[in-house]
Amino acid sequence: MSQAHGTALITGASAGIGAVYADRLARRGFDLVLVARDKAKLNALASRLRDETGVRIEVLPADLSEPDDTRKVEVRLQADDIAMLVNNAGIAVAGPMIGMNPERLNAMIQLNVAVATRLARAVVPGLVQRRKGDIINIASVAGIRGDQPAISVGYSASKAYVLAFSEGLDSELSPYGVRVQAVLPGATRTELWAKGGIDINTLPQEAVMETGDMVDAALAGLDQGERVTIPALPDIADWTAFKTARAALGPNLSRRLPAERYGSGQAAPVSLPKAS
Ligand SMILES: NC(=O)c1ccc[n+]([C@@H]2O[C@H](COP(=O)([O-])OP(=O)(O)OC[C@H]3O[C@@H](n4cnc5c(N)ncnc54)[C@H](OP(=O)(O)O)[C@@H]3O)[C@@H](O)[C@H]2O)c1
Repeated sequence: MSQAHGTALITGASAGIGAVYADRLARRGFDLVLVARDKAKLNALASRLRDETGVRIEVLPADLSEPDDTRKVEVRLQADDIAMLVNNAGIAVAGPMIGMNPERLNAMIQLNVAVATRLARAVVPGLVQRRKGDIINIASVAGIRGDQPAISVGYSASKAYVLAFSEGLDSELSPYGVRVQAVLPGATRTELWAKGGIDINTLPQEAVMETGDMVDAALAGLDQGERVTIPALPDIADWTAFKTARAALGPNLSRRLPAERYGSGQAAPVSLPKAS
């Protein structure tokens, strides 16, 4: 049975936020491609959702830290049926930079930044050609609080990249009818915290959202046409004010002379002696 919505490919679909996206998108009538390393979990989810919704579901096991596996996913994203990419797979390596294992730091940046970018790159030409489709990038509120890293500096910076990448890519693709949404969850009750060595129960519980609530809010934001969705933020005017303040910097961020407070910038131009 062919689905009216086309196919959504979800990375990190074996657990947490990605597994809930799979559930919600299947119920909306999308066919699915589920990507993660844990094949058994993907198969169990696929079988439940096939029974409950009747949509077509492919399981595509892939370790996105492996270039060959990443290429397999890129190839699948280039097929004509793809209508949506949920760029969700990510890890959080916690702790101060001074003691951080460089290999784990690198793995986090690779997955959260480089792989997410490559997968978006793979899906863009088809979506642009078809003049429709969505790329949902799971960033984090950590990406706008780099000054106060909750998990680690590297994690916050990786999510700041995802936000900047999403906003820029949306500007580039919106003329073609392709939407790019950045989702910025706050603390969400998934296994990510335990995997990163943090007990989520030590966080103030009023700051922790259930995964189903987070994904439902993010999809409601997409339905409302939001390009940046912060599920926990009570008043969207606060985000608008942040963007307005950022935009106001614009005309003054690149000028011929340095600012006066740096001393020499505003000095009168020196006239050079005439060449003899
Ligand atoms: N939980 C939060 O509080 C929170 C807040 C803000 C943003 N986020 C973001 O939300 C996204 C999803 O996180 P989550 O909380 O749902 O975490 P999670 O429960 O740990 O799920 C992470 C998913 O990513 C997959 N994954 C990890 N490494 C992979 C690899 N090398 N190749 C392929 N798949 C891989 C995992 O599957 P396998 O292990 O089977 O491969 C799993 O399906 C992440 O980008 C995270 O940064 C989470």
